[in-house]
Amino acid sequence: MGIYLDNAATSYPKPEAVYEAADRFSREIGASSGRGAYRNALRADGIIYEARASLAELFNVPDAARIVFTSCATESINLALFGTLSAGDHVVCTGIEHNAVWRPLKALERQGDIRISIADHLHDGTLVLESLWEAVQEETRLIVVNHASNVLGTLMPVEDIARGAQRRGIPVLLDAAQTAGLHPIDVKALEIDLLAFTGHKSLLGPQGTGGLYIGEDVSLRPVRYGGTGSESAREDLPDVLPDRFEVGTANAPGIAGLLAGVQYILERGLEAIVEKERRLTLHALQRLQDVNGVELYGPQDADRRVPVISLNVDWARAEELAFVLDDEYGIMVRAGLHCAPTSHRLMGTLNRGALRVSPGCFNEESDIDALANALGEIEAKFR
Ligand code: ALA
Repeated sequence: MGIYLDNAATSYPKPEAVYEAADRFSREIGASSGRGAYRNALRADGIIYEARASLAELFNVPDAARIVFTSCATESINLALFGTLSAGDHVVCTGIEHNAVWRPLKALERQGDIRISIADHLHDGTLVLESLWEAVQEETRLIVVNHASNVLGTLMPVEDIARGAQRRGIPVLLDAAQTAGLHPIDVKALEIDLLAFTGHKSLLGPQGTGGLYIGEDVSLRPVRYGGTGSESAREDLPDVLPDRFEVGTANAPGIAGLLAGVQYILERGLEAIVEKERRLTLHALQRLQDVNGVELYGPQDADRRVPVISLNVDWARAEELAFVLDDEYGIMVRAGLHCAPTSHRLMGTLNRGALRVSPGCFNEESDIDALANALGEIEAKFR
């Protein structure tokens, strides 16, 4: 199987229960949820209900119906941005947004609908909080925050941002693509308005799953229309959540797998996962800084980051390294721009990209050691 260190792209492997749940759904249930009253259709409804409830437990969402399922964080973010912003609006975002945020924002800007201001960061991704508030204008209708960079790993001060935004009466969209299932997120305590998450990264679910939490005070327009299995004679979508934003047949096998992933996290305990990943991050920072000619990006303090560590060496290109690591050592890491040109601009690596190492909760310190040793051997061949 090799050594998989690309969990920032998607987690792998998944807990055994995730494979079993998705497989069992497809083989033994198979029915379309919300579309029938026979037993298997009701079982499908039950699984989706339970998945929503377990996510509500994980994120401390008071009303699970306010979590709508999507196919990924990108779709959730598109819904949040296109569904809330209108002509003349102004948006403030961090300077480390990945393309899931950056491209829809730029599309809205090109349409002439919105204006965008970007907060400042230090070289390691640390947000200069005052710059975010300085960017706020009278027309600012949304603050978009990448909870943690998918390149630098840097965590944003979400509590301070949420508190400051609330004082100014501006809703916050928190993009938790990189943190859901890996870092505590308490929607109620933070009073976050919109929370976008993906199911296939640290929530340990299958690809093709994700969701958006919609706060009670948010006025969100649907961006997709179609059948919901409810109020079918009505030409408009139902007003009720989650139906208003869940059109078409659900990815029920995926959601069954996601339920198993979230249950795994709740049973093992998020704190235990956070602690293990912190240990792996610390170990990776220690081992990788000994690689000759290395530049490590992001904070050197494991408490201020998620386990996403990007680097370059002065004796090879990141793509070459990723190729040799896979080809000769069976070690899987992602090289390039990681769909996040904003972070690479900050790092000064827009022209060459970087090698990204992202351990997950099933990696061990020995996997990091194997990577560090392999880099040492590759250097000896390259020099
Ligand atoms: N956003 C994912 C990554 O960072 C795909 O690789």
